[in-house]
Amino acid sequence: MWRVARIAILTASDKGAAGDREDASGDLAERRCREGGHDVVARAIVADDREAIAAKLREWADAELADWVITTGGTGLTERDVTPEATRDVAERDVPGVPVALWLEGLKKTPFAVLSRGIAVQRRKTVIVNLPGSPKAVAEGMDVLLPLFPHGTRLIAGPMEHVTPADSGRE
Ligand code: MTE
Repeated sequence: MWRVARIAILTASDKGAAGDREDASGDLAERRCREGGHDVVARAIVADDREAIAAKLREWADAELADWVITTGGTGLTERDVTPEATRDVAERDVPGVPVALWLEGLKKTPFAVLSRGIAVQRRKTVIVNLPGSPKAVAEGMDVLLPLFPHGTRLIAGPMEHVTPADSGRE
């Protein structure tokens, strides 16, 4: 059965948090989620700061606000790229197949896909997935994630939550 997912989007970007850069990647992720029929329940931009990222992830997961949190940015190899470490800080268990799928799909487009250190983890009833920062990488990542949302959300949230009558009949 079709399942609406509740999705929160966290952008990690020093420039974005300072107001010096539009959050094109967060906007794109939100648009793709909505086009896929899902609810975007929260958005935030924080600096590339391990504590700040972890605090927001913890807040959202512990409030059971979203089934999925998509982060964008901070997965690479520069000193300021700390999103995977912040995600690890709040993890209860790993969801290791998701980054593998992201790498495999990304490798069809660019060999640089493997330079993302993004991880996927579960905390309580929320799965957190790290996507890279570029809009191109987010678009490619959403192609991987969107098909996972209905069944994944059923597993995360349990039966018959967040189902609206209009959703019945959709596969
Ligand atoms: N994955 C996909 N699918 N498409 C991309 O264009 N860019 C890569 C990689 N993953 C890319 C991708 C590049 S160039 C980098 S440096 C890393 O993601 C990390 O990006 P980030 O530092 O913005 O998180």
